Amino acid sequence: MKTVLKTENLHKVYSLGSFLRGVKINALDDVNLRVESDQPVIISLVGESGSGKTTLAKVVLRLIEPSSGSAVVYDQQVAGKGVRPAKREFLSTVQPIFQNPFEAFSSYRTVDSYLERTAMFVNGLSRTQAVGAMEEALASVGLKFVDVKGKYPNQFSGGELQRVSVARALIPHPQIIIADEPVSMIDASLRMNVINLFLSLKQKFSTSFLYITHDLATAYYISDYLAVMYRGCIVEFGEARIVLTNPQHPYTKLLLESIPSTKWKWVRKQMAESDIETKEYRFVGCKFHNRCSLAQDICIQKRPLAIKKADGRDVYCHFAE
Ligand SMILES: Nc1ncnc2c1ncn2[C@@H]1O[C@H](COP(=O)(O)OP(=O)(O)OP(=O)(O)O)[C@@H](O)[C@H]1O
Ligand SMILES: [Mg+2]
Repeated sequence: MKTVLKTENLHKVYSLGSFLRGVKINALDDVNLRVESDQPVIISLVGESGSGKTTLAKVVLRLIEPSSGSAVVYDQQVAGKGVRPAKREFLSTVQPIFQNPFEAFSSYRTVDSYLERTAMFVNGLSRTQAVGAMEEALASVGLKFVDVKGKYPNQFSGGELQRVSVARALIPHPQIIIADEPVSMIDASLRMNVINLFLSLKQKFSTSFLYITHDLATAYYISDYLAVMYRGCIVEFGEARIVLTNPQHPYTKLLLESIPSTKWKWVRKQMAESDIETKEYRFVGCKFHNRCSLAQDICIQKRPLAIKKADGRDVYCHFAE
């Protein structure tokens, strides 16, 4: 079996302000995830704003170094001890799609120049060979090379441009695509197109996805696994259907209750910076205790470890049923 994603004791601390009066933030606070599979899988990562989702994505994409801990993606070491693959080898395994396609492409460059660069640098193709790779990748997202060639980002709609980003990510035939809120900037009516595209790419090319979202409805719709994060910690992790139909962590329950069941979507809550300052950095208990109806003294004194349930999920709670 392949290790699709494995993190062990992953920590990322950000220090803000000066040394003496500064604030420390645990963006990732002992994250342990493990997904092994021979089939392509879609892993969703959900949690409110500031919970550390993008930080985890950046570690996986090797855009930032964690403070400690290790991470493996498709058998490639991305953080911690071990041999790190060369950049080109890494990019042929792991590819990103970002939230805002208009930021992913410079407005002064034609979008096909990005695709061409990926084909030449990552796949090692000649300029002539790159055309074939671009045609193939664009066709698999429902676009034609002739319609894309020579155009600048502002000549596309958000949905179309996000398809071009997906095509670019597909050129190296990666094993996994890391998609950080890939549809949140796209018109609501086009979101499902991109989501369905992910499902079809999973089948057609055996591509796995790490799908980061605020939208529980799409997470439920496409994921095989689901990790729920709260302030840098995983609170519940397991098969998506199991977690979402029968949540066991009080925070997962709260998330599901706080949204109308017909439309699983929750409003972004902006967290006050003071909420997540150094005090919390030193806090050893459960971070959810002050919002939890089950909380007892032990929740303030001791961080709950993962409890492995019979259905395979991990629940980080002293009192989860
Ligand atoms: N470069 C940075 N410097 C300092 N703090 C940072 C930095 N990047 C992220 N943080 C902090 O780390 C925490 C986690 O941020 P992160 O962006 O990973 O959250 P997120 O779950 O992706 O949130 P959102 O849903 O809003 O995208 C937040 O408290 C954030 O303020
Ligand atoms: Mg984010």
